Amino acid sequence: MSEAAIEIKDLRVDYGNFVAVQDISLSIPYGEVFGLVGPNGAGKTSTFKVLTTLMEPTYGEVSVAGFDIFESAEEARRIMAYMPDLAPVPADLKLWEFLDFYADTHRLGGRRVRRERVDECLRIVNLFEKREAWCKELSRGQTQRLVLAKTLLHRPKVLVLDEPASGLDPLSRREMRIALQALAKEGATVLVSSHILSELAEMCSSLCVMNQGRLLASGTADEVRRELGRAERQLSVVTFGDPEALVSWLRERPGVTDLKVDGLRVGFQFTGEDVDQEGLLLGLVNAGLKVRSFEEESSSFEDILVRVAEGNREV
Ligand SMILES: Nc1ncnc2c1ncn2[C@@H]1O[C@H](COP(=O)(O)OP(=O)(O)OP(=O)(O)O)[C@@H](O)[C@H]1O
Ligand SMILES: [Mg+2]
Repeated sequence: MSEAAIEIKDLRVDYGNFVAVQDISLSIPYGEVFGLVGPNGAGKTSTFKVLTTLMEPTYGEVSVAGFDIFESAEEARRIMAYMPDLAPVPADLKLWEFLDFYADTHRLGGRRVRRERVDECLRIVNLFEKREAWCKELSRGQTQRLVLAKTLLHRPKVLVLDEPASGLDPLSRREMRIALQALAKEGATVLVSSHILSELAEMCSSLCVMNQGRLLASGTADEVRRELGRAERQLSVVTFGDPEALVSWLRERPGVTDLKVDGLRVGFQFTGEDVDQEGLLLGLVNAGLKVRSFEEESSSFEDILVRVAEGNREV
């Protein structure tokens, strides 16, 4: 039995000739809020559909809480909850009626037990005060939270939420984050997707970036940023000598582009690994260029994602 809450190994999803998910492997421990970030069409929903047993992959192994989802689909489904992207709610039911209906389908117990659990879930998503309201009266963020309450009813160990924060304002996002982190603290594992990193950065303990069916990086937000930004860095050197001499020297170095002079500061793009960057610094010092500071600017994560998406986009 696997130690991880979610274990995906060499997963591939083809739609006819089109490869939507390409040999991805992921291991997500218990108690995490884990983010899957990627642009439209990256393969997030396809991955989630396989994970939640709604679709068969071309190949790959997937287990949830130790259950192989192909051999033990029933058991896996019972401990999981799936919140699809843009899930509809029936307009003409009150909030509690909507939840009570699903509590009944989950066979949570008699009327009183069901009502207690419904109220509990409404409180988790901060909608208890609205329990008598009609579903159609809810704002978008409230609707998202109501659907989240529905996915919580049967106390799932693993929650798979497709774009749960999409369209939420910062306050609703914060409420969603608090609700999800509370669930993770109690031991549940939450997998969420988004195409906007800032929606997930605060919510997730770890995340991975996916594009065109492939996983590009995973880890904490910082680790992912470093991993994706590795190929190309924005560096700047401040000299207490002659900036023109510095520029002439840098211009001849491999991997250096986009040189810009601003007083005594020279900024440039550098393509290379850590050891190459170290070599560059050693070279600067040895050439007697009077280096006062040498630093790497952290480009914003959103910029990195845009570059990654653009670099891979077929034109
Ligand atoms: N049923 C299908 N038949 C054919 N192609 C599909 C099907 N479903 C998805 N695709 C394609 O597979 C790719 C991945 O789609 P998927 O829905 O998994 O992406 P996503 O990351 O969830 O994107 P989004 O952010 O837009 O929701 C896309 O290029 C999409 O066009
Ligand atoms: Mg999707």
